[in-house]
Parts: sequence; structure tokens; C-alpha cells
Amino acid sequence: EQAGKGEYDHFMLKEIHEQPTSLSQAIEGRIDPVDGRIALADFEPGTFADVDSVQFVACGTSYHAALYGSLALNQAGIRSTALLANEYSVSSPPIDDDTLVIAVSQSGETADTLAALRQAAYEGADTLALTNVVGSTAAREADDALFIRAGPEIGVAATKTFSSQAVMLTLLAQRIAADLQGEPPADLEALLPELESMPAAIDEVLAESAAKDIARRYSDSEAYFFIGRGLGYPVALEGALKFKEITYEHAEGFASGELKHGPLALVTPETPVFAIFTGEEDEKTLKNAEEAQTRGAPVIAVCPDDHPAVEAADDHLSIPDTEPDLAGLLANVQLQLVSYHAADLLDRPIDKPRNLAKSVTVE
Ligand code: G6P
Repeated sequence: EQAGKGEYDHFMLKEIHEQPTSLSQAIEGRIDPVDGRIALADFEPGTFADVDSVQFVACGTSYHAALYGSLALNQAGIRSTALLANEYSVSSPPIDDDTLVIAVSQSGETADTLAALRQAAYEGADTLALTNVVGSTAAREADDALFIRAGPEIGVAATKTFSSQAVMLTLLAQRIAADLQGEPPADLEALLPELESMPAAIDEVLAESAAKDIARRYSDSEAYFFIGRGLGYPVALEGALKFKEITYEHAEGFASGELKHGPLALVTPETPVFAIFTGEEDEKTLKNAEEAQTRGAPVIAVCPDDHPAVEAADDHLSIPDTEPDLAGLLANVQLQLVSYHAADLLDRPIDKPRNLAKSVTVE
């Protein structure tokens, strides 16, 4: 097993460090080489021309990637919603001929997600599986499959597959918008160079991260909160999920604006708040973070070095400047590292947390 981990103490840390490579693999060859502006050139032109709305079904970390994708689709003007696969049989939005249902599942074997996928197909939706495993049940059963090419992920807590899923869904949003509008959306031009520099940006985060110091500084806290807005919201949820999965400490993620609608009652000097800034109404998120500070909570800003939040916050986790579509993914790498180091300090079995399985094949 040690051989598989290479120079790292845990698979999770190895997989966090693999993200520059896994992202390069995910995007390689997927931009049309002739036009240079068509995302996901692996689908026939016009594949998504009839899509009227998109429903995502997924669980766990994949649900957070699905939510990320759904918000990206909405921002591209496409009706979309992300649903927990295990809630789908009780209440799912109506399906018609032009509904595309996308199952997001690293393994392609999660029972809840397969059940939702089957229900959607039965009700007449077109289906697509976004997965890491070629030959998985989801890939075989869906009408179409899109592979994230992240390579095997051994750590139970998903890391590199989340970033690849989110990037693929960002591209898919561009592609569906292009098929519907007959031409690539204008923002693709700004997005592509940023996308291509993501591996280098992640390398920078990995090389210079202050996550270990931050994990140590706040290691005696009572609970850990994560807030974000827009595409930072699913990242806040994912940051908290990762933290609770491997540290066994209490962690929650909230939409920044929701803090004042309840969670603020939990905020004390013993509850650090990680605030994610993606360039989407950051001034409001900063205000929300300051509301937590007023209650004595230390705020750790996850943002570029020249961001106003650096001055206002108690601590800072730096990310390179990029497009709002991608900033959350850089923030997520910092949060993965914080969780990892916090769990390591507590001597948790990081790759195999208690009570959890890599793939849950029962409903
Ligand atoms: C399990 C794992 C999670 C994972 C979820 C969905 O609960 O512990 O890390 O996110 O399943 O897995 P999937 O393979 O469908 O992405």
C-alpha cells in the first residue's frame, strides 16, 4: 500500500497533489481544435440543441459538484437544478422530452444515484452519466457518458474527482449554451485561457499553502464553519463535508447570506469561519464574514492576495486571481489541505474514516 502512496503519507494527500495532472487530463482534447471555441468537442454538433432543462442527481461530494454545475448552467441561461439522488424518488421535478438528467458519480455505482437515473430514464428523460469509471453501471445505463479521466481515487474522501467533475460541468454549461444559441457563449473566450492555466494555479496553491499553519492555529476549536456565495456556496458545503469526514469535528457549510438567518446563533470565538471569495458579490460576503467577527469568531479569508478581505480577516489562505467560474476550485484545494492537516494533527485514519465507504451500493 505504501508503494501506491509514493512520497506521501496518505492517498488523500497524494490525490490532492495530483489535481494539476488530473485536470489537464480532464480537459485535454476537449476544446475543438479547429474552431477553438467549442467546449466538449467529443459530442456531435447540436447534441444538446433540444435541451430545455437540466436536472442533476448525485450524492455526497458529487452532489456538491452537481450543484456547482447547476449554478454554472443557470448563469449560462439554462434552466437547471441539482437534486440529492436519495430524495429523487420522493420528490422530483417534472420531466418532459427535452429534460436532460445528468447523474454525477465518481464511481458510477452509488445505489441512490443509479436509482434516480433509472427513474429519470423510465419517465422519459435523456440521460448522461458524468463519471470517473469507464464501464461503470452509470456509464453503461445512461444514454451517454462523459468521463472525467481523473485516474483511480483511493482515499475515501473525494478530492481530485470533485475538481474534475466541476471543471467538466463548467465546460458542459458552455457546450449546452453553444448548442442552444447556435454559437459559443462570449464568456468562453475569457474562460479558456484561465482553464488552461488551472493546473499551474493549483501547483502554486500546493507549493505555497498556509493550510498546515491554519489547521494548527485553530485545532482546539468547537466547530468549523464555511461560507461562500454563488459558485463559492457548493465549495463551502464541500469544505465542511471534507472537514467532518476526516477530522470527525463539527463542520457546516452555509451560503454566506444565510449566516444571519440562523447559523449566526452558533457563532462564537471558538468557531472559526472560512470565507470563500469567488468574485461574485464579494462585498456582501465580506459583510457576512464581518458579522461573524463581531461575535468574536476568527475569519479566515480564502481569496487572492490583493483582495480587500485580506485586510479585514484574521487569517488568509491565498489563491491566484482567476475567473469567478474557477476561483472556487482553487479555494477548494486550500480547504482540502486544511482538512487534511487538521485530521493529521488529530491522528485520524485519513484514507479510511470510520463508518464511511468509498462507494455506497445500498439505498
Ligand atoms: C460515498 C463517499 C463519498 C462520495 C459519495 C458519492 O458516500 O464516501 O465520498 O462523494 O459516496 O459517491 P460517487 O461515487 O457517486 O461520486
